[in-house]
Amino acid sequence: MLSMTEIEFHDYLVVTIFVAAALTFVALFFVTAPYGRHLRAGWGPAIPARIGWIVMESPAVLLFVAVYSVGDHALSTVPLILLGLWQFHYVYRTFIYPFRIRSSAKRMPVSIVGMAVIFNCINATINARWISHFGDYPDSWMWNTPFILGVVVFFLGWAINQHSDYVLFRLRSPGEGGYKVPRGGLYRWVSCPNYLGEMLEWVGWAIAAWSLAGLAFAVFTIANLLPRAIANHRWYREQFADYPPERRAVVPFLL
Ligand SMILES: NC(=O)c1ccc[n+]([C@@H]2O[C@H](COP(=O)([O-])OP(=O)(O)OC[C@H]3O[C@@H](n4cnc5c(N)ncnc54)[C@H](OP(=O)(O)O)[C@@H]3O)[C@@H](O)[C@H]2O)c1
Repeated sequence: MLSMTEIEFHDYLVVTIFVAAALTFVALFFVTAPYGRHLRAGWGPAIPARIGWIVMESPAVLLFVAVYSVGDHALSTVPLILLGLWQFHYVYRTFIYPFRIRSSAKRMPVSIVGMAVIFNCINATINARWISHFGDYPDSWMWNTPFILGVVVFFLGWAINQHSDYVLFRLRSPGEGGYKVPRGGLYRWVSCPNYLGEMLEWVGWAIAAWSLAGLAFAVFTIANLLPRAIANHRWYREQFADYPPERRAVVPFLL
């Protein structure tokens, strides 16, 4: 009988995320994910966007902690720091961000929520299992260049993401649902600095964790958000005749 060890199964899931990233990247140039400004009919039943965000991101908090806590190295310092960074982002994204969204009437297709739940379950499992069990993180890793650099990049990305989302929230008064041209901060140079910040966060986390599972997540985040940033940028240009011409989509001066 064919049997697989747990580490082989883990590797298989990591490869799955890399493959999913490649497919997602190509697909999103043809079909923009139908939520937010790109919401449209034809994607099945929809639920309030707030509930959608909470449901789809919950595995990244809850499953991550559950898988992490049964690892052999769950009480080691470096894994605990990596856990802390992850949860610092995801507790906010799951339980605080949805209540900062200004339009309460916005909806999200259940199909999008379902796909995100599957992704987050796999992603949380491979990353939590790696840092608390399969990975080898002596305390000295804390003082190595990749770890320090990764943590710095993570917090730089976090600050950019937070500030950029804050600018967007302030464009609407409570209950309002329309769109305006965002200005200030990194919006001087790009249309989607919140996505740039998010990409930096997970590249930083992957460098600090120095793992294939972390890299797979960083690559997936870029594959997911880069085409969406290009779609958002095109959308802004179509909607606003006076849209700043020098602004790029997501990477200042380049893309
Ligand atoms: N790790 C990942 O792969 C991943 C994937 C997706 C999202 N995210 C993160 O999740 C967060 C939200 O993503 P998103 O795709 O919903 O971002 P988004 O399209 O930039 O929207 C963020 C919020 O601001 C509102 N908004 C956007 N542009 C606006 C404008 N011009 N005027 C007024 N309000 C505006 C949106 O309202 P509407 O909903 O009404 O459009 C939404 O509530 C971001 O921080 C992103 O980085 C991460």
